[in-house]
Amino acid sequence: MKNRQMEQFQEIFGTRGEGLYFSPGRVNLIGEHIDYNGGTVLPCAITCGTWGVAAKRTDRKLRMYSQNFKDRGVIETDLSDLRFDPKDDWANYVKGVLYFLRETIGEWPCGLDIFVEGDIPNGAGLSSSASLEVLIGTMVNDLFCLGKTPLDIVRLSKKAENDFVGVNCGIMDQFAVGMGRKDHAVALDTRTLEYDYIPARFPGVRLVIMNTNKRRGLADSKYNERREACEAALKNLQQALDISCLCQLSPEELEKYEHLIADPVGRGRARHAVTENARVKAAVNALRRQDIRRFGQLMNESHISLRDDYEVTGKELDALVESAWKQPGVLGARMTGAGFGGCAVALVKEDWVDAFVKQVGDDYTRAIGYAPDFYMPAVGDGAGKRNTQSDGD
Ligand code: GLA
Repeated sequence: MKNRQMEQFQEIFGTRGEGLYFSPGRVNLIGEHIDYNGGTVLPCAITCGTWGVAAKRTDRKLRMYSQNFKDRGVIETDLSDLRFDPKDDWANYVKGVLYFLRETIGEWPCGLDIFVEGDIPNGAGLSSSASLEVLIGTMVNDLFCLGKTPLDIVRLSKKAENDFVGVNCGIMDQFAVGMGRKDHAVALDTRTLEYDYIPARFPGVRLVIMNTNKRRGLADSKYNERREACEAALKNLQQALDISCLCQLSPEELEKYEHLIADPVGRGRARHAVTENARVKAAVNALRRQDIRRFGQLMNESHISLRDDYEVTGKELDALVESAWKQPGVLGARMTGAGFGGCAVALVKEDWVDAFVKQVGDDYTRAIGYAPDFYMPAVGDGAGKRNTQSDGD
C-alpha cells in the first residue's frame, strides 16, 4: 500500500507502519449545550479529520509524532508511566486514552510508535481533540486485538478528556466521531445513549462551515460556568419535581416551575436547554420528512436562544450568523460547538454558495477586522481503518 502517511511514518520511525486509520471531526447541526443536560443532540461526522499510522515496538516506549506540530518532534515516554504533562501538549490526548485503555486490559504487551496528521483547524470547535482521542483508541484496539466496541472507545475517549486532560465536556463529540455514518446525522439521546441515524442528504444544498478564526481563549472556564448554572437550576427545580436532568422537562413544564430557579440568569440557561431539546425533536422530524426549510428555521431559533438565553455566541459568531441570515439561498445558520468563537454552520442552496462565501466574508471582515474561513466537508463515516487516503476524503 502506498500512502503519504505510511511513508512519513517510515521516514520518522525507520520502520513500517502496521495500518492506516482515519477519525473524523464533527459538526453539530442542532442541540447545543444539552449533552450535559440529558438532551438529544444531532451532530454528524465530517470528512475533515485525523489520520493515524501506528506500529508495535519491541520495548515499552511510547513514541508519538504529529505532522501538525513538527517543531515538537517525536515525543517519547514510557507506556507504564503515563502522566499528564502540559509541555507535551497534543500528546496528552494520546496518553489519556492509553492510560484508561490500560485500566481495562492490564499491562501493555509492548510499546508503540504513533504518527498522526489532521486537517481540522485546532480550537475551531470541530472536535479536533475528540478526533485524536477516538483515533488512538480505534488504532490501538485494532493493533492489539483488544475487542473493544466503538462505543467502548467513545466512552473511554470522553473519560480521557474529562479526567486526564481535565476538560469537562459531554459525550456528543466523541460519540459523533466514533459512531458517525456517511450521509447521516446521529440523533443521540445523551441521557440514555440511545441513538438513531437520520439521513442527512440535502439535495441541492451545501453544508457550509464558517470559522470565526477567533481562538476560544477563556472558553473552558465559561463552559464550566454554564454547566454549573444548569446544575444549580436543576437543584432548585428538584425541590418540586422528580427529574434527574433539565431536558426531562417540556418548555411548558419549565414555564410553570421556572420561578423556583433562584438566579434569573440561571432561568435563561435552563430555558435554553429545555427549548433547545424541543427544537432538536422538531428538527429530527423535519429531517425525516426532508423539510429542510423547517430544519433551517429551527437552526436560526437555536442560534437566537444560544445568543440571548445561554449567552455563548459573542460578537464574532453573531456577525457571521447574522450576515448569513441575510443572504439569498440560505435555509438556516447557527453557531456550532461550545461557542465563544469557533465555528458556525449554514445550509446554503448550491447555486448561491459562491456569492454567500464572498458576501459573508466581506461583512465579517468589515465588522471584525480579519477574515473568516469557509469549509464544505461532506458528512462522512466514523473512525476506522482505511485502505487508502481517499477512503476518508
Ligand atoms: C463542546 C463539548 C460538547 C458539547 C458542546 C456544546 O463541543 O465538547 O460536549 O457540550 O461543546 O454543545
